[in-house]
Amino acid sequence: MSLPQAGIFTEGRTHFYYVEYQLHPEAATQDVRQALRSALAVKGEKASETVVAFGNKAWDRLNPTWHPEGFQAFSALAGVDGASVPSTQRDVLFWIQSGRRDVTMQVVLAIHSFMHAVGTLQLDLAGFQYLDSRDLIGFIDGTANPKEDKAREAALIPEGKPGAGGAFVLSQQWVHNLPAFHALSQSEQERVVGRTKPDSIEFEGEAMPPTAHVSRTDYQENGKALKIFRRSAPYGTVKEHGLYFLAFSCELRRFQVLLERMFGASGDGVSDKLIRYSKPVTSSYWFAPSREALIQVCSLDTEE
Ligand code: HEM
Repeated sequence: MSLPQAGIFTEGRTHFYYVEYQLHPEAATQDVRQALRSALAVKGEKASETVVAFGNKAWDRLNPTWHPEGFQAFSALAGVDGASVPSTQRDVLFWIQSGRRDVTMQVVLAIHSFMHAVGTLQLDLAGFQYLDSRDLIGFIDGTANPKEDKAREAALIPEGKPGAGGAFVLSQQWVHNLPAFHALSQSEQERVVGRTKPDSIEFEGEAMPPTAHVSRTDYQENGKALKIFRRSAPYGTVKEHGLYFLAFSCELRRFQVLLERMFGASGDGVSDKLIRYSKPVTSSYWFAPSREALIQVCSLDTEE
C-alpha cells in the first residue's frame, strides 16, 4: 500500500506557509532533484510538516514514466457576470504547517535557500487558524469536510491506479471584499453560505437557497457525492486578506465540476453568491505524490 504524505491529514496546526515556484527552464533536472531532496530534509526547531506537490509539466519532467489519470494544468474559467478564475499554474508547491509562526518561518526560509537556485518564487503567503477555524468572513470552514477513512477516500488516488496514495490538489488564493460582505445582514450572509454563522448549522429544504455556497459545492453526480478534502486557511493583512483555498481529491475533475458550479459555468444557469464577495487571484492544479513516489522522483538519476 502506498502511503500518502502525512501532512495532508495532520490536524491541529495553527500556522501555515505556502510557497509556489516556477522552475527555471534552464535548471538541470538533477539540480532540481537535489534542491527538492534538501528542501524535504529541512526540520524546524519544533514539529512541523511539509507537503510538496507538482504542476503537470514539472511532474512530467521529473517523472517521465507515468502520469496520474486526468492530470492537467489549470485552465482559466469564464464565469457569469464578469466573474472569472485565472490560471497561474506553477511548478512546485510547498505547504508547511506547524503550531508556531516562528517555526513555519524557519522552515520556509530554509526550503527557499535550496529552491531559489532552481526556481522563481511566485507565491509567498503565510496562513493562520482564525478563531475557532473560521474563515475571515466569520463562518466556520471545514464543517462538512469528510473525516478519517472518508477523508482518505475523498483525497487519495486508490490502489491500482497510477499515482496511488497520491492526491490531486487545487490551490487558489482568494481575496475577500469584507466591507461588501459585512454590508449584508447576518441572515443575508447565512443565505450566501447556506449555514448559520455562529454554529455552522446547515439550512434544510426550502430554507437553503440554490445560490448558496453549500448548494453549489455539496454535489452528487449520478447518485455519487463528489467529495473533496479541504485544508484551506485564512491569510493576509489589513489591506489585503482572504482564504488560501487548498483541497485534495482522488480525481482532478471533481475540482473542475465544483468550480464550474460556483462560477455559473455548469449549464444550469445558477452560480454561487459567494463569488460576489471574494475572488480567486491564483489557481493551480497539482499532484502530491505518495511518500514512496516522492522519494523516487527526488532521487531518480536521469541522463540529460
Ligand atoms: C473564498 C473562498 C471560499 C470560502 C470563504 C469558502 C467557505 C466555505 C464555508 C464557510 C463552508 C461551509 C462549512 C464547511 O462545510 O466547511 C464551505 C463548504 C464547502 N466548500 Fe467552500 N469556500 C470557498 C471556496 C471553495 C471552493 C473554491 C471550493 C471548491 C472548488 C469549495 C468547496 C466547498 C465544499 C465541497 C464544501 C462542503 C459542502 C458540503 O458538503 O456541505 N469552497 N466553504
